[in-house]
Amino acid sequence: MDGRDLVRSVKLVGAVGAAQAVRTVRAAWRRRRTDAAGLPRPAAERARMPGTIEEVEPGPGGGVIRFGRSELRILVAVNGAAFWAWDGAAAEPSYALAGRCPEPDPRASLEPDKEGGWRVVAERVTVAVSRHGAVEIRTPGGVTLRRDLPPRWWEPADGGPGRWMVRSEVAPEARFFGLGGRAGGPRLRDGTYRLWNTDPGHAFSPGDDPLYITMPVQMVVADAGTHLLFHDNSWDGTVTLREGEEGAGSGHDRAGTSELRMQGGPLRCWVMVGTPARVLLAWASLTGAPALPPRWALGHQHARWGFGSEGEVRRIVAGYRERGLPLDAVHLDIDHYDAHQVFTVDRERFPALPRLAEELRRDGIRLVSIVDPAVRAAPGNAVYDGGTDLDAFVRDASGRLVEGVVWPGDAVFPDFTHARVRKWWGGLYAERLAQGFAGFWHDMNEPTSFTAFGESTLPRSARHCLEGRGGDHREAHNVYGLSMARAAYEGLRELSPRERPFLFSRSGWAGMQRYGGTWSGDVATGWPGLRASLSLVLGLGLCGVPYSGPDIGGFDGSPSPELFLRWFQLGAYLPLFRTHASRDAGRREPWEFGAEVLEHARVALVERRRLLPYFVTLAHLARRTGAPYVRPLWWGAPEDRALRECEDAFLLGDCLLVAPVLAPGADRRAVRLPRGRWYDTATGQAYEGPGQVLVEAPLSRIPVLARAGAVIPVRGDDGGPELEVWAPAPGRAGGGLVVADAGDGWEEPEIEHYVTRWDGSRVVVGLQGPDGPREPSLPVRVRGLAGR
Ligand code: GLC
Repeated sequence: MDGRDLVRSVKLVGAVGAAQAVRTVRAAWRRRRTDAAGLPRPAAERARMPGTIEEVEPGPGGGVIRFGRSELRILVAVNGAAFWAWDGAAAEPSYALAGRCPEPDPRASLEPDKEGGWRVVAERVTVAVSRHGAVEIRTPGGVTLRRDLPPRWWEPADGGPGRWMVRSEVAPEARFFGLGGRAGGPRLRDGTYRLWNTDPGHAFSPGDDPLYITMPVQMVVADAGTHLLFHDNSWDGTVTLREGEEGAGSGHDRAGTSELRMQGGPLRCWVMVGTPARVLLAWASLTGAPALPPRWALGHQHARWGFGSEGEVRRIVAGYRERGLPLDAVHLDIDHYDAHQVFTVDRERFPALPRLAEELRRDGIRLVSIVDPAVRAAPGNAVYDGGTDLDAFVRDASGRLVEGVVWPGDAVFPDFTHARVRKWWGGLYAERLAQGFAGFWHDMNEPTSFTAFGESTLPRSARHCLEGRGGDHREAHNVYGLSMARAAYEGLRELSPRERPFLFSRSGWAGMQRYGGTWSGDVATGWPGLRASLSLVLGLGLCGVPYSGPDIGGFDGSPSPELFLRWFQLGAYLPLFRTHASRDAGRREPWEFGAEVLEHARVALVERRRLLPYFVTLAHLARRTGAPYVRPLWWGAPEDRALRECEDAFLLGDCLLVAPVLAPGADRRAVRLPRGRWYDTATGQAYEGPGQVLVEAPLSRIPVLARAGAVIPVRGDDGGPELEVWAPAPGRAGGGLVVADAGDGWEEPEIEHYVTRWDGSRVVVGLQGPDGPREPSLPVRVRGLAGR
């Protein structure tokens, strides 16, 4: 225990109370002892590299290349993704893959490359391997997007899993994105990023890394093309990135580099090449379509740790109602549990939850429940007893239950990597549904266990089933939250088959979008936290997780009215639009910040409700194509270098460009525009991109621009659907997709494709059909005509 640990312990006493602090000291020692006994002792290591090619064996989708000291398997799949793996690793088993490994592309062929190397040539990508085992990813046109140097392994001389490293080079002008949810992005600057899901233990700012969701997923955007690289390995590791430079040093370019070091696990990866949209389509086909939220989950949601009673919930809801503010869901945090125990209710303060839920539902408001994985280790606690009967909780190498400390005190942790445990846990949501909850908010599932010193998670030697293969927490840690989400999702599908499960999870890993979304976690109140909020949503979207959003106002403090409002205005354009804060933080109800903020927040709320049909459409498109709702400005033009640098604005679907205010005191801001005509939706003023323009951003609103020719489904004044059409640029046409959804359930709605063009001085809109465009049945409102 060092000085920092001591400071941490003192803070803990303040935050959790003395008894809990004592538990965290005991737990920390316990964890240390468990690992001392359960982890392999450090041994002398032997270094290895592949050597040179000795023989090749063509196979479906590619083949196997044998080196002196390793072998490399390459497979290009029918979805265009390329897989390669060293040392005989296969694509399965995998926590990321949605199903089986996709079929090999029979057209891909293994052929000799220059200087004794070999290459697999496929329609969308070429994977070339040098004589010494460097792997190059080339576009179909032959441009190299990435070059992995031959890997290195370090293996314990007495056997067992080794660590390894791969260093890669990318184009000098390439930019890195992704790696899960990173507060300092979305463009990942030079530095080392850790791959280990972590609760930072305090409200975080852009400098805090890693956070709750890490993923070995890189999206790399360069002039010659975009690629997404995924190392399918859940072990602890680091990625060190260094952007390249054109004309560096003596006029020579310096390549960008990425160095991946993993502490164990297979060296296997997938790469997808093409436009950003292509790449994410392939990623979704590999790791699964994003779950479709019910419509209400695309509205406004209000949460707080410490509502504390049914009376308080009613007071808040009445506050929204009296002021005519739209509200779609209220979230109950751990304070509604009995003594912080998951799947229980404090009946004194919440005596009739089902009735409250029913009343709220009549007003169109759903209740969402927090769900923590840690189960209080106390006989008599039904979840503990049930889990014990099933042997559901994580044990250490000597077979003892692993006990940690979370909100309810000493606690045990379900092993979600066991199918039987997932089934049991999924069934527990029956209790939540009976209480009237409609959605679920998974928390503390990195997993977090409070500790006075050392890592705030389970011992690394803790044993996990890992689907029957057996292993320890070093491998299971990063997929713990993902597997918990799977348990809940599959349970809810059975318990409530007609409804779409709604869940979002603080921690997760590649593929988590199959089960739901996520949120920022405890983002710090402050302008840097506001910026981090956007970074997280953008970065996660590029890793295939389209549904997320921040704690509006930040988790821990009391935002100034201006900061709260700017956060609220940003949140209104993000998929998860939720106010939330800690019990010690200031209030987050929009009327707590004065009359002016209330009026402007109302405008944001009403606009969100108006845009709901557009959000529903984006949710469907995300499910069908993997494209996130919130996209970086370079989405449609990754070759535009100025757009690649732009991190303070985003595209919401194809139609809107949102430029939030991220700094205090602004009443206008610079907005970088992609090519084409864009209208300021507030003033109707038209701007021509590409370029940068200065746009009004008074306190009452943030700039939102519509793409010329856009067709946007909105809610009309009478509550019915309507089309908002933005005049195409002169001589141009436009269009948009609309998915009209029943709000919940599994019926496949049709995708309507609208087109728009000029007819003389009129803008006409048609619905595409087999016999050409016909008159839309929805009311149409054309805007942007004044700019003509
Ligand atoms: C964690 C969550 C936060 C929640 C709190 C209490 O800090 O991130 O959202 O309010 O726990 O459950």
